[in-house]
Amino acid sequence: MNSRIESQRCLQRIEKKLDIEKLLGAGSVPFLLRLGQHFPRLYDLLSNVYHDVEDFDQVMESLVKTLVDSYQDRPERLKKKDDQRLDDPQWFKSENMVGMACYVDLLANDLKTLKSRIPYLSELGISYLHLMPLYKSPEGDSDGGYAVSDYRTVNPALGTMDDLRDLSEALSEAGISLVLDFVFNHTSDEHEWALAARSGDPKYADFYYLFDDRSVPDAYETTLREIFPQVRRGSFTYLEDMDKWVWTTFNSFQWDLNYSNPSVFSAIASEMLYLANAGAEVLRLDALAFIWKELGTTCENRPNAHKLIQAFNCCLQIAAPAVVFKSEAIVHPDDVVKYIEPEECQLSYNPLLMALIWNSLATRKTRLLNQSLSHRFAIHPDCSWVNYARCHDDIGWTFDDGDAAAMGLNGYDHRLFLNRYYTGGFEGSFATGLGFQFNPENGDRRVCGSLASLAGLEQAIEAGDNSLVDMSVARILLIHSIILSIGGIPLLYAGDELAMLNDYSFQDDDTKKHDARWVNRPRITEEALAAAARPGTPQNRINAALRQMISLRKANAVFGTGKTRIISTGNDHLFAYQRVHPEAENLAVICNFSDHPQILDQGVLQSMGLGGRAIELISGEHVNFHSTGSLNLEPFQFQWFRTDPA
Ligand code: GLC
Ligand code: GLC
Repeated sequence: MNSRIESQRCLQRIEKKLDIEKLLGAGSVPFLLRLGQHFPRLYDLLSNVYHDVEDFDQVMESLVKTLVDSYQDRPERLKKKDDQRLDDPQWFKSENMVGMACYVDLLANDLKTLKSRIPYLSELGISYLHLMPLYKSPEGDSDGGYAVSDYRTVNPALGTMDDLRDLSEALSEAGISLVLDFVFNHTSDEHEWALAARSGDPKYADFYYLFDDRSVPDAYETTLREIFPQVRRGSFTYLEDMDKWVWTTFNSFQWDLNYSNPSVFSAIASEMLYLANAGAEVLRLDALAFIWKELGTTCENRPNAHKLIQAFNCCLQIAAPAVVFKSEAIVHPDDVVKYIEPEECQLSYNPLLMALIWNSLATRKTRLLNQSLSHRFAIHPDCSWVNYARCHDDIGWTFDDGDAAAMGLNGYDHRLFLNRYYTGGFEGSFATGLGFQFNPENGDRRVCGSLASLAGLEQAIEAGDNSLVDMSVARILLIHSIILSIGGIPLLYAGDELAMLNDYSFQDDDTKKHDARWVNRPRITEEALAAAARPGTPQNRINAALRQMISLRKANAVFGTGKTRIISTGNDHLFAYQRVHPEAENLAVICNFSDHPQILDQGVLQSMGLGGRAIELISGEHVNFHSTGSLNLEPFQFQWFRTDPA
């Protein structure tokens, strides 16, 4: 029997048994339509992963029951949103999209106060707000909330689920899409599933990877990458009370979920839909690369991980189609793109652009940036990058060694150089940053620091040197200009709009001092807001210029839908690209990464559509390239030219 017929039989049986029509009443029509449309694929994906599970039909039945229940609980407001988004599935491509990520407590203490900050966000132009994990989690160290003890309870210090629903509604009214974390690779060791496993319940023991001795962990570890080698060596943690080992890719209190057990898939699907029903419009798939384990592999980016993510996406298509997925795959660029498909993750962080911008700032050269992006920037036309320069995490140098070799660079050595450059081990560096997760085995580590400190503002202010301040301001604006214009959703990290420096206070906090990422998670203080509001300060210059760029983005359709062409400039210090919009005027962006003036050749300008009239959006100046010839750029200068047919 072919799988189409099998899946149809399975669905008919389930529909009859659950009597969905009766359960959902008048609202059953759109649900049943979508179920009919997506069930065959869901069945295919899951039967592929769980082919050796005995009662597979039972797995599907309990999953469909979850979908029905969640749809029943979905507020009318969100069902309307479902219809809107189905009519406009490319909504996230708009030039209006500008993102921010923040910790609720660091921006506004709690959810209620955050609601009162919506005008601040709107005025800045924010239309996508990622609230870092705000769920119940262990006291003390909870990996910034990424150790979730209960997906359905808000961390009491931040408020309640009702506060979250209320906030999501208010955000939606203000045109801001709420983004929540879907932390589905692991739970905290205090989640009720983990507690049940600990107390010996075999059903929940099977929710995690528990081992009686080291033999299996040892076998896996021969091929695993260590993510947090400073937390503990290896990826497993010994549990004294159980006399067992548990798989913990990240911190020892974050237990990896066992997706080879289909009950885990169903249980997590239910949690996911709960978050969708709380008003999330985007779910950020935390650590998605790690969800499938296979002996003899790195246990990252496995084919079954992709199938499971697609199956989760299918569940959304059926029960909450307004919601899209955003991939957090901070892995090799070949693997990053494999998550980006309309049926898998419609959005993805762009860690390569992030890393290579910092590389170009350190080296003043754009060759690796240009070479890598010229063949790696294009993704599925119905999907979108989320471009960022800094986030709550560390910077990992995830470029491809082959791309580096083509530029005459040895990837390993170059990473060591970058780590030194950004963490104080390189004389003459402008950056102030901290190392993270040094691995004694291979000498690897990663980099922490705020955008402004890594780009030189901290050192410049300390030195009291105005010309250094000017240079760091120019560097910071150069970074923002690329993130805002290259194509995709720009994502700011809260505090970067105020050019906030490193915050070393974590070093005095016992629950944080071992995790250097807190240096780049500052509290948004009144002082920081005041510094950015006071004319003449570097923070004010950065804030004002950033606001101007955001407004320009929102006023020009070419920043939204359209294609990006990376241009070879023939100048090792310049980075250039063209945005081509199907209807609006084209955009050409040119950036100088050097601390010396540079010239861009007239021939190259013409190849980017700059042969006649154009307007430079930032200065508002009109230019006629016909008569100007080549283009001069000051150190760290960037220009946004919109072609002008008139
Ligand atoms: C993601 C988060 C990071 C966290 C890890 C484990 O990578 O961004 O902050 O430590 O997942 O949840
Ligand atoms: C690794 C993981 C990424 C995580 C980060 C946290 O890079 O790939 O998922 O955010 O570690 O440090």
